[in-house]
Amino acid sequence: MTPEIGKIAKQAFADSFLFYLQAHYYHWNVEGRYFGQDHKLFETIYIEVFEAIDKFAEELRAMGTYAPGVFDRFSELSTIQQSDEIPAAEKMYENLIDSNEKVLKSLHAAFDMLEANHLHGFSDFIAERINRHSKHGWMLKSTVKK
Ligand SMILES: [Fe+2]
Repeated sequence: MTPEIGKIAKQAFADSFLFYLQAHYYHWNVEGRYFGQDHKLFETIYIEVFEAIDKFAEELRAMGTYAPGVFDRFSELSTIQQSDEIPAAEKMYENLIDSNEKVLKSLHAAFDMLEANHLHGFSDFIAERINRHSKHGWMLKSTVKK
């Protein structure tokens, strides 16, 4: 395993973790006319992503690298911009759609790199994550479609 493979896989991991956190953060703090629905959808998404995090970390370990687990390191690795502002519900959707695209981009990069290096067990897991995040994107976009 080269450091480059580890870096790309860890970036996808960090993006997934920060996307999970953003969905959970918005679940706690969303307000407005559609509170019940928004609160519930954000919950569905954060639970699904959180449940995959442990398996993701174990795939990193099986590949021979360590799993990151502190926020400074997640910030260094991730392409997702963190902010402690609490936006209006509509903007929360916009931000989650944008972050989800970033997760998908880094998952695709990880998939290609893992396949090229014949790490098919890990790439199988990543393919499933791509599938799930595509569905999260679909649900988020459909909710705010005018
Ligand atoms: Fe809750």
